[in-house]
Amino acid sequence: MDGLKVALESRQTVVLTLSTAAVIAVGIAYLKWRRPRKGNRQYVPVGHVSKIYVHPVKSCRGLEVGEAEVTKQGLRQEGVMDRHLLILYKDHFLDTRTEPRAVLISPQCVGDGQVRLEAPGMDPLTLPKPNKQKVYSISMWEVDGDAVDCGPEAAGWLEKFFGKPGYKLVMSTPGSKKRPTNQHPKYKDIAKPDDKVGFQHETALLLTSEASLKDLNNKLATPVAMRNFRPNIVVAGCGSFQEDDWQYVRIGEAEIRRMLPCDRCLMTTVDPETGMKNGTQEPLKTLRSYRLTKDEKYKSVFGHSPLFGLTCGVEQEGAIHIGDTVYVCT
Ligand SMILES: *[C@@H]1O[C@H](CO)[C@@H](O)[C@H](O)[C@H]1NC(C)=O
Repeated sequence: MDGLKVALESRQTVVLTLSTAAVIAVGIAYLKWRRPRKGNRQYVPVGHVSKIYVHPVKSCRGLEVGEAEVTKQGLRQEGVMDRHLLILYKDHFLDTRTEPRAVLISPQCVGDGQVRLEAPGMDPLTLPKPNKQKVYSISMWEVDGDAVDCGPEAAGWLEKFFGKPGYKLVMSTPGSKKRPTNQHPKYKDIAKPDDKVGFQHETALLLTSEASLKDLNNKLATPVAMRNFRPNIVVAGCGSFQEDDWQYVRIGEAEIRRMLPCDRCLMTTVDPETGMKNGTQEPLKTLRSYRLTKDEKYKSVFGHSPLFGLTCGVEQEGAIHIGDTVYVCT
C-alpha cells in the first residue's frame, strides 16, 4: 500500500513540475512575441507618451493633442501636418527669434485638413485652399523646398496682427518639393535620402522627456514650460536626459530613428504665453552651464548651443496616443 502511495505521489510531482514548466515556457514565448522588435533590434519599455504637440504653422503656438499620426514628414493631426505652413516677411521666413509675438498666433485644426488662425484681439480666419499656381522656392537653413501661396486674406490677417505690411503665409502641400534633411551640413552623413520635411528644423520629429524639463526647472528661479522647447513627443517615466542615448524609439506601430541631440537657440527664451523674450536669456543660460556637448566630435557642430531633446527621423509610420508605452533601443 505504502509503496503504491509513494509512486502515485512522485508521479503527481512529475506532472506538476512538467505543467509548471509548460506554463513558464508559454509565458516567456508570449512576452517575447509581445515585445515589439524589428530586425534584431531589442526594445525595452522606458515610459509612456505624456504629451503630443502639432504646430500647424511654424513658430506659432502648438496644439496639444491626444493622438496624432507619425509620418515620414512629421506629425499629422486631422489632415494637418506639423510645420508645413510658414509665415514669410519680405519673402524671408519668419521665426520666433526675430518676431517672438508669432507664438501668440494659435492655429486650430478644424477638420478635413483645414486650419483656422486665432490670436488675441483678432477675428479668427479659416484659411482658404492655397493657390497652387503661385509657387515659392524657400531656402531655410541651407535646405530648399517649395511652397504655395495661401492668398491675400491670410497675408492681410498677418499684417493686421503684426501691425505692418510685408507678410505672407505659404504652405508645403503634399505635391510641393520637400526639404531633404541630408542637405543640411549637420545631417549630411546622418539622414537617409528619404528623410524629407516641410518647414521643421530639420528633421521630422523632436522628442523630449518630462524628467529632463524637471531637471532643468530644478535649477531655474522660475520654471519654464515644455512649450518653450516646442517638441512633438514628450516621454514620461524615464530618467532625465536618458533620451540622449536612444537609437530607436517605438510607440505603437510607429518606429522613430535618432538623428542628433537638439542644439537649442534663443527661441527657447520666448515665453510661450506672453510672446516676450526672457531678459536674462533663461532657460538657455542655465542649460549652457551643464548641457554643452562633451563629445569632441560634436564640439564644432554644436558650438555654444546646449542640448535638449532629440531630433529624429521616421522608420515606420503609425498612430500614437497619450499614454502609449514607449519602447527604446539604445
Ligand atoms: C527670466 O527667467 C528667469 C528664470 O526662469 C526668471 O526668474 C525671470 O523672472 C525671467 N525674466 C523675465 C523678464 O521674464
